[in-house]
Amino acid sequence: MSLTAETVQLKLTPRPVRFYAQVDSTNDLAMDWLRDGASSGSAVIADEQVKGKGRLGRVWYTPPGTALIVSVILHPKREHLHQMTMLGAVAICEMLEKLPHSFSGHETVPEWHVGIKWPNDVQLNGRKVSGVLSEAAWEGDNLRGVVLGMGINVRIDFAGTELADNAISIEPAFGRKLERLELLADLLGFIDYWYERLDEGALFDAWRSRLNMLGKHVTVQQGAIHGIAEAVEESGALLIRETNGNIQRVVAGDIALGS
Ligand code: BTN
Repeated sequence: MSLTAETVQLKLTPRPVRFYAQVDSTNDLAMDWLRDGASSGSAVIADEQVKGKGRLGRVWYTPPGTALIVSVILHPKREHLHQMTMLGAVAICEMLEKLPHSFSGHETVPEWHVGIKWPNDVQLNGRKVSGVLSEAAWEGDNLRGVVLGMGINVRIDFAGTELADNAISIEPAFGRKLERLELLADLLGFIDYWYERLDEGALFDAWRSRLNMLGKHVTVQQGAIHGIAEAVEESGALLIRETNGNIQRVVAGDIALGS
């Protein structure tokens, strides 16, 4: 089934959903809806996104028919705010990790390594398959809610683009046709699962255990910090041990392997 207003509604009912053929940014539409009183779990989904917002002010463009573009409205407690992006990344990993289980015992499963590149890039076979951007809505000091935006490459063709070496899409890697509607339903199911269990404290471990650069030599591109990615804090901050033994605490940025 293709992704349309009708199929999305049918598949996800009773979740409140809004589907658009084309948007500037699902995060912006979800933020408006949040401020209009949307309940937790409400989701904005689009087929094409032309001014998608990425981390660190980047643009996230998605051609029609090629990706999962979704922003979920959540109403976490203030103390769980820092875990919203982690929640998105872990849920995306779980959606991806489930896929090879559809192969039967005698079929060859394609290469399929799912991991998180700090802070929250989901990687498949070492390449970025998904990005997460959460944005909080405040009313003075009160947290009004959060928009958890996720973009997942399903069948974007990166060949010949500047992203060719670093980005990947699920479908060609998987080698079988995938239904975006099914992926979406799975993803939202994993988000609900973790959202309901934030008080239990297990999300942090689920995130940390998937980080693929811990213990390795990394460089933080912003600020020229080099060293061993030694640990992460519950807040999500990365602790890097430099060669002189100093620990640098990094709260935002991009890391790359090596020096
Ligand atoms: C990143 O830079 O890695 C984060 C990218 C997040 C993109 C998603 S797509 C759905 C949602 N709407 C947006 O405008 N951005 C997020």
